[in-house]
Amino acid sequence: MKVAVVGATGLVGSEILTVLAERNFPVTELIPVASERSKGKEIDFKGKKYKIVTPAEAIALRPDVALFSAGGGTSTEYAPQFAEAGITVVDNSSAWRMDPTKKLVVPEVNGTVLSAEDKIIANPNCSTIQMVVVLQPLHAKYKIKRVVVSTYQSVTGTGVKAVNQLMDERAGKDGEKAYPYQIDLNVIPHIDVFQDNGYTKEEMKMIQETNKIMGDDSIRVTATTVRIPVMGGHSEAVNIEFEHDFDLAEVRQLLAEQEGVIVVDDPANLQYPMPKDAHGKDEVLVGRIRRDESQDKTLNLWVVADNLRKGAATNAVQIAELLHKKGLI
Ligand code: A2P
Repeated sequence: MKVAVVGATGLVGSEILTVLAERNFPVTELIPVASERSKGKEIDFKGKKYKIVTPAEAIALRPDVALFSAGGGTSTEYAPQFAEAGITVVDNSSAWRMDPTKKLVVPEVNGTVLSAEDKIIANPNCSTIQMVVVLQPLHAKYKIKRVVVSTYQSVTGTGVKAVNQLMDERAGKDGEKAYPYQIDLNVIPHIDVFQDNGYTKEEMKMIQETNKIMGDDSIRVTATTVRIPVMGGHSEAVNIEFEHDFDLAEVRQLLAEQEGVIVVDDPANLQYPMPKDAHGKDEVLVGRIRRDESQDKTLNLWVVADNLRKGAATNAVQIAELLHKKGLI
């Protein structure tokens, strides 16, 4: 299979290359794609060198599938051109996620929605992916009424520039800034742009995308998304109110049985999920599982995942695997 990776020099793009190799995705030819700036540079994939091309050149090479992670602007401009040429696009940007004609997919949650008509498939927001993987089995059993989530998000979610900002600040050096404020030794309650309702776009993504992926607009969601000076993954404190009461042992069992989830919950032995442990893993870690004693039928969880993996690259590759399994690419 001819596979194009658009944004191959970026943080998510290079993680996509790693995941494709690790999972042995049947790549017969890799087409790494980036901007004019990177054209002609070489990239290593499974011991072979490949030359970076521009999006227009990639279309002419007719890949079977293109995994996009080069920002919303690139996706808005080029994904339709790839699709028009018959190339199936899995897009990691937010450009197509809420388009009613496009599917928004987390394979473990709603993989069944994919069909032959889908030429541009949207990969959800990183914070949303790790949350819905955990919500899904609980919703199926107890029906979720409302979710209150607060996030603690890694700088890697912003891209290379943000990682450099953190490292520069730590080394006491001046450099390019990805954030309006210092991120080292700080916490910034602002991810993506502010909306008229006072929420940020990241918070609205978590709300709207959760409803779309879970196929249930009756689930009420509110979010506060926060950037912290961390590298390995995103963490989330999730408070879930159910229609029906639950049994904690059963909740643990449902989560342990959910594909792509690992329960790390042994407070007596100080076992709980942390970004440094999620780093490099494809699974979502969940712990601190406990009843909210301030309200009936309500649960507290702590959910951690590598945002570049399950939150981006792994989920995109899993969508491609599913398309391949269904004979759609
Ligand atoms: P390049 O390295 O040539 O700038 P990150 O979010 O980690 O900063 O990565 C962004 C990715 O998107 C990079 O691979 C970058 O390539 C790529 N990119 C940015 N603009 C374009 C564009 N107009 N066409 C193709 N790729 C682009």
